[in-house]
Amino acid sequence: MKKMFRTAILSIALVGLSTSFVSQAEAAGGEGPKLNDNKILNVSHRGASGYAPEHTIASYELGEEMKGDYIEVDLQMTKDGELIAMHDETLDRTTNGTGLVKDYTLAEIKQLDAGSWFNEKYPEKAKPEYAGLKVPTLEEVIQHFGKDERYYIETKSPDVYPGMEEELLEILEEYNLLGPNAPSSKVLIQSFSPESLKKVHQLNPDVPLVQLISYKKPATITDEQINEYKKYAVGLGMSYTKIDQDYVQKVRSHGLLIHPYTVNEKEDMQRLLEWGVTGMFTNYPDRLREVIKSHN
Ligand code: G3P
Ligand code: CA
Repeated sequence: MKKMFRTAILSIALVGLSTSFVSQAEAAGGEGPKLNDNKILNVSHRGASGYAPEHTIASYELGEEMKGDYIEVDLQMTKDGELIAMHDETLDRTTNGTGLVKDYTLAEIKQLDAGSWFNEKYPEKAKPEYAGLKVPTLEEVIQHFGKDERYYIETKSPDVYPGMEEELLEILEEYNLLGPNAPSSKVLIQSFSPESLKKVHQLNPDVPLVQLISYKKPATITDEQINEYKKYAVGLGMSYTKIDQDYVQKVRSHGLLIHPYTVNEKEDMQRLLEWGVTGMFTNYPDRLREVIKSHN
């Protein structure tokens, strides 16, 4: 029932988008929505996951306390079509369950313990309250943090989950997180899948998108590739270990944002800022905050 309501709301919103106002993309001369590139974004990767079990409310709360600008939420989809916050396609690493997320209902996944693995793996960081933490749905995350938080959401394995983009946009619409707010956007959507991002762009061209790229070797990028990404994305993300200053400056010279992942050491953060990145993903948003402060 809730889903039917959301679908109706999304349909109305999509019609509205196409008829009632000039999109950020059009306003920007067809280049897509713009973000403020003077602001260095501190993205809490899976929450402050250096200190708490990733993708739990506890981890996201720490990210907020440590003044991260966005909390990063990776999405998987349950057998009954609910979007949950989880990095892996399988339950094994971060819960006491086993098997594929897509083979379990939300009710079944809610029985699992998503925190004890962290206490066992990192005894020096363990806390009794982490034991028994639940896997949150995207809706629960948004309900908990509301519109005061910003969300950097990744569509994971979109080929495994047909319809995940529609479901994601329905939820964001329902909680009023979309709209012509690109310069200070509450939501960024990222994916390694160009198809997934292009689908989101087609459904709603006002949502700022970041194309993730997986490089096996030191990264290079051509003007043609950048121009292709610019058709739908406002920025690129890639492993910081694969890039150099020339790469960063080339991306920036085309006006795209660049948010490398996952940067946990202060020396690396400092070097990337000197190269000109516009933000980064870190498991330690407190460290990045200190480095950004001393860089400014
Ligand atoms: O989304 C940025 C970064 O998180 C991509 O890698 O595997 O941690 O989702 P991963
Ligand atoms: Ca991610």
